[in-house]
Amino acid sequence: MSKVTVVGAGNVGATVANVLAHKDIVNEVVLLDLKGDFARGKALDTWQQAPVDYYSTKVTGTEDYKATAKSDIVVITAGIPRKPGMSRDDLISTNAKIVVSVTQSILKYSKNPIFIVVSNPLDVMAYATLKASGLDPQKVIGMAGILDTARYRAFLSTELGVSPKDIQAVLMGGHGDTMVPLPRFTTVAGIPVTDMITKAKLNAIVKRTKKGGGELVKLMGTSAWYAPGAAAAQMVESIVKDDGRIFPCSVWLQGEYGIKDMFLGVPVQLGKEGIKRIITLKLNAEEKKSLKTSAKHVKDVISSFKKMKLVPATPKKAAKQRKPATRRKKK
Ligand code: LAC
Repeated sequence: MSKVTVVGAGNVGATVANVLAHKDIVNEVVLLDLKGDFARGKALDTWQQAPVDYYSTKVTGTEDYKATAKSDIVVITAGIPRKPGMSRDDLISTNAKIVVSVTQSILKYSKNPIFIVVSNPLDVMAYATLKASGLDPQKVIGMAGILDTARYRAFLSTELGVSPKDIQAVLMGGHGDTMVPLPRFTTVAGIPVTDMITKAKLNAIVKRTKKGGGELVKLMGTSAWYAPGAAAAQMVESIVKDDGRIFPCSVWLQGEYGIKDMFLGVPVQLGKEGIKRIITLKLNAEEKKSLKTSAKHVKDVISSFKKMKLVPATPKKAAKQRKPATRRKKK
């Protein structure tokens, strides 16, 4: 894998490109934005950092989709971020159009890329990308769980006075206030977190995690970018290296956890094919209930997306792909 396109040169997109360049694992990163000069500037700045920080990944900026040709991975960060008082779902009317049009434009020049979706409302924008692309669902992955778990792990790290490196956790559900952090699947260097912290403190951290994105919006007047950008870059890394890592990501579910025909955060193993496998945990009744509530919320926002009629019910591309196969059979 050698070429990654990042669509959107705003704070998140530029951070993805910058963090990815520092990893020095791909040959080329193309940063695309409608504001071409802005993308060129961010890319040039990152390229000029290369001699200082020692990486060879070539970073370029453009407004022209031709320059994204033959991308192996495309990270979509395009769209507007939240302002104070907004929920991620409030962004749908603007961002759905952008994400659908970005997906279609990318596919003119890259036949079969893996899409990592970062734009909000996350789970619904991943759904939009899948439907607009007609790609194999294995190749469309939403970035949310790594970020949400990172927030949860960072809060635990501060509270316990231990390194964030030693905190491992699973978090499921939609990228919103209904997300489901799972204390039963959280450890501190292998020790169950519940042995290290009081219930009240843990509950407070779970609560803070759920509103973690909103906390930053309140502080800065716009949404976060360092942790979101690094999280998307980590997904690219794991796909490029095909090293078998497991992360919570928003993926297309077909009956796993009793959920169907929608994107939702669950633990998955990433790899060169995109999603290698979906991991099914044994949840208890309370966890199942919280996941169901989260799924219902995301499903409602998907319904709003469907009402926008931006993509046909059956993607054209998939229909086209099926036709020749039928004809061949008849011969
Ligand atoms: C957040 C945005 C990126 O959670 O969704 O900060």
